[in-house]
Amino acid sequence: MLPRLFIICLAIASVGFAADTASTKDGKVTFNRDVLPILQKNCQVCHRPGEIGPMSLLNYESTRPWAKAIRAAVISRRMPPWFADRKVGHFANDRRLSDADVSTLAAWADSGALEGDAKDKPAPLEWKEGWNIQPDLTFEMPVPYNIPASGIIEYTYFVVPTSLKQDTWVTMGEIRPGARSHVHHVIAYVRPPGSTWMKDARLGIPYVPPKRQTLASKPDSQQLVKDVNEFLVGYVPGMQPQRYDIDHSAKLIPAGSDIVFEVHYTANGKPAQDQTRVGLTLAKAPPEKRFITLVGRALDFAIPPGDPNYEAKSFVKFLEPVQFVEQQPHMHLRGKDMSVRMTYPTGESQMILNVPNYDFNWQLVYYHDKPLQVPKSTLMEITAHWDNSQNNKWNPDPTATVHWGDQSWDEMLVNHFGVIVDRATDVQKIVENIKPPLPRN
Ligand code: HEC
Repeated sequence: MLPRLFIICLAIASVGFAADTASTKDGKVTFNRDVLPILQKNCQVCHRPGEIGPMSLLNYESTRPWAKAIRAAVISRRMPPWFADRKVGHFANDRRLSDADVSTLAAWADSGALEGDAKDKPAPLEWKEGWNIQPDLTFEMPVPYNIPASGIIEYTYFVVPTSLKQDTWVTMGEIRPGARSHVHHVIAYVRPPGSTWMKDARLGIPYVPPKRQTLASKPDSQQLVKDVNEFLVGYVPGMQPQRYDIDHSAKLIPAGSDIVFEVHYTANGKPAQDQTRVGLTLAKAPPEKRFITLVGRALDFAIPPGDPNYEAKSFVKFLEPVQFVEQQPHMHLRGKDMSVRMTYPTGESQMILNVPNYDFNWQLVYYHDKPLQVPKSTLMEITAHWDNSQNNKWNPDPTATVHWGDQSWDEMLVNHFGVIVDRATDVQKIVENIKPPLPRN
C-alpha cells in the first residue's frame, strides 16, 4: 500500500513541476526537441531493434504509443534499471535520470505526445554492432545454443578451454551476446587447472547443474571464499566493457585455464540461437598490480517457509589493504534487499552500497566513482533479506525451507567485489570470510 501511495504522490509532485518546465519554454514539450535527446542518452542502448528492451525508442512512430508507459516507468524509477539507493555512495555507471528529465518525459506524455519540428531533431546515434574494444583474444561458445520460445530456462553453463600456455594478463574485457534480445546476463569465469568446479560439464556442451545436496550441511565458508574460480567479465544489457587497468593493474588468467560462461537466457516468445563471445585486451607486460574479483558469501542459512523478511549476513575481513573498485550483489528469486557496510580499523563505519529493492532480473555491477581505499583489518558486513512469503510474485515455493544452491529455486547470498592489490600479494590472503560475531541479540 505504502509504496503505491508514494508513487502517486511522486506523480503529482512531478506533474506540477513538469507543467512549470513546459511553460517556461514555448508552452509545448516535443519529441524532436525535448524527448529524443533523453532517449538517445538513456534508453536506446536497450530499446532498439534486436536489443533486450521490448520496444524501440529510436523514432517518433515507435515511441508515440508508449508515451503513457514511459511516463509511468520513469516516474516510478523502474526505468532505466538501477537499484542502488541514491543516498548511499556515488557510482560511475549510475544511469538514473535527473529529475528534470523525468519531468520532461512526463510533461510530453501529458501534453499530447507531440512530434514537433523536424529541424529540432538531433542526429541519430550510431550504434556499434561489433566489439567496443579491439580484442587481442576472443573465446566463443563452440556450438550455438537453441533458446526455446517459452518457459523458464535455468542458468546454463558452457566450459570453453583457453589453450593458453602461459599466464595471461587482461586489461579489458567485453562480452558480445549472440541473441541480444534473449540474453539477460552472462558471467565469464576463469577456471584454473585443478579446479573441480563444473567437473561434470563436457567441454562446449550446454550444462545445467543437477539439483544437488545443499551446501548448508557442510558450511565451510572459510573454504569457499578461497574458491579459486574467478569472475573474469560480466554482461548485463547496456553494459560497457570492463577495465582492469585502472591503476597499473590487470586481471590474471593462469596458464591452462578454462573459461566458464554462465548465461541467463529469457524466453520472449520467439526461439533463437545464441553463440556468446568474450573478447579480451592483454597487457604487454605483467602489471605492477593485480585486479582480482573476490566474493563475500554466506552459505549456512535456512530461510523458513513463508518468512517475508528473513535476514542473513556475511562478514569478510580484509587481511591486506586494497583499492575497492566495484561490487555486484547476487541473490535469487526470493532476494529482497542487500546492503554493504565497511567498519574501518578506527571504528568508523560507512555503508557503501544499499540495494533496497533487489531485482533478480538485473544483475547490476556498481562501480564506485573512485576506488575506495580500504585499510587492512577492515570488516565488510553484507546484509541480505529474502521474501519467502506468497506475496513475493517470483517465489517458486513459499512452503519450502530454502538453502544455498545454484538453482533459482535455491538461494544465494553473494557479493562479488573487485579490488586492486600489489601483484606480489598472496591472493589467498587478501580476505577471509568470518563467522558472524556472537552473540547476536
Ligand atoms: C539496461 C537496459 C534498459 C535501459 C537502459 C532502459 N530500458 Fe526500458 N526496459 C528494458 C527491459 C529489458 C524492459 C522489459 C522488462 C522489464 O520491464 O524489466 C523494459 C521495459 C520498459 C518499459 C515498459 C514496457 C511495458 O511493458 O510496459 C518502458 C515504458 C521502458 N522500458 C521505458 C524506458 C525508458 C523511457 C528508458 C530510458 C529513460 C529505458 N526504458 C531504459 C531495458 C532497458
